[in-house]
Amino acid sequence: MAKKPWAGRFTKPTSKSVEKYTESISFDRRLWKYDIEGSIAHARMLARQGIITKKESDRIVKGLKGIYKEIDEGRFVFREELEDIHMNIESALIEQIGDTGGKLHTARSRNDQIALDIRLYLRAETYEIRGLLRVLEKRLADTAELHLGVIMPGYTHTQRAQPVLLSHHLMAYAQMFERDRERFGDALKRINVLPLGSCALAGTSLPIDRAYVAELLKFDRVSENSMDSVADRDAVIEFLSCSVLLMMHISRLAEELILWSSEEYSFIEISDAYTTGSSIMPQKKNPDVPELMRGKTARVYGNLVSLLTLMKGLPLSYNRDMQEDKEPLFDTSDTVRATLTILSEMIGDVTFQKDKMESSAGAAYATATDVAEYLVRRGLPFRLAHEITGKIVRYAMDKGKTLTELTLEEYSSYSPLIGSDIYRCVDARASVRARNSFGGTAPEMVKEQIARFRKRLGS
Ligand code: ARG
Repeated sequence: MAKKPWAGRFTKPTSKSVEKYTESISFDRRLWKYDIEGSIAHARMLARQGIITKKESDRIVKGLKGIYKEIDEGRFVFREELEDIHMNIESALIEQIGDTGGKLHTARSRNDQIALDIRLYLRAETYEIRGLLRVLEKRLADTAELHLGVIMPGYTHTQRAQPVLLSHHLMAYAQMFERDRERFGDALKRINVLPLGSCALAGTSLPIDRAYVAELLKFDRVSENSMDSVADRDAVIEFLSCSVLLMMHISRLAEELILWSSEEYSFIEISDAYTTGSSIMPQKKNPDVPELMRGKTARVYGNLVSLLTLMKGLPLSYNRDMQEDKEPLFDTSDTVRATLTILSEMIGDVTFQKDKMESSAGAAYATATDVAEYLVRRGLPFRLAHEITGKIVRYAMDKGKTLTELTLEEYSSYSPLIGSDIYRCVDARASVRARNSFGGTAPEMVKEQIARFRKRLGS
């Protein structure tokens, strides 16, 4: 059995059941790279400050690099009785280089060590997610550009409201994902702060140089309060919050893809590569991928709530409860990354049923607002114009006619202000073209929107 670092104070070995209950190596082993990176920087700083010799530091660094290689090649044996990634690596080091290895933990505690590992992990994951978001944003902008002429019904209350450009609809999501990427970028400012050197909670009496460690590990700043540094998981919670918002956006898009691919809408077809069949109903093609995106959003929400609940009653500073932060964090990042990757692929593989979208765009009196705005341009107050148009729609419904099918006589019986140019307004395409206010759905506006978006994106 491995000797525990705290064996000096204890007379009995840890019970097996406790080892099983308290271990985190089964999941925190994935922090190994960050743990070693942090330890190497720490050893270098110790030597620079004369706390250990240069020779000792070199031996430690060499030993750590050897362990890095062993883990990387899958040769390292992780041991549950050594609890976590920190103790697994440290005891392997001591085994390999002897007592000098025991000097690595000078002026350090697992409390600041785990805080450091998490921040290194968060930083890397945040870069990764921001990269994936860029790909998705570009994919959406490309798709929007490709389909620039296509019109579709725009909805409010899930009722057809006004015709819009498909590109405008797609760009709405691009805007959301751009905000998400920004938010992750903002979080980086608070993630990228060095906690190491806070030690157990109160700092150390040894002459360490935290700024030097920050420089080696490319942190922007050094944390200012040792108690806060080991007790704080804000950066994790903020990362989860950014993820929650992102997944909420993805889930809304997924929901639309699901609806649009249904027989009832028939607006899109999702490629066979991203759908599955039914084991019983031969005719079916199910949108499982977007359904799972919507479904996985739930667990990411759950992870945020877990962390908030985990932290809410903890007195300062470190408490072992905090070991429970890792699984929700890892699960979130894995889910977000996998979802982003597959969403970008899938978007490129959707076929838009232009004819179906276009025919739906003009139906259901979706251009009624255009009639009202026509009357406004002829001088009527909007409220009155709205009322007259409402009567026209009611009449058309009773007659089973669309707004393009009403005769001029029928129109002018409701208002003498209506002339034959009304037909240019009630056509869905004309309606879209007319909505050229800034941020509106007119093709020229959407084109400009895409251009500005691409400029910000840099591609
Ligand atoms: N495995 C622990 C965690 O994830 C590391 C810190 C343990 N510190 C301690 N004093 N037991 O939180």
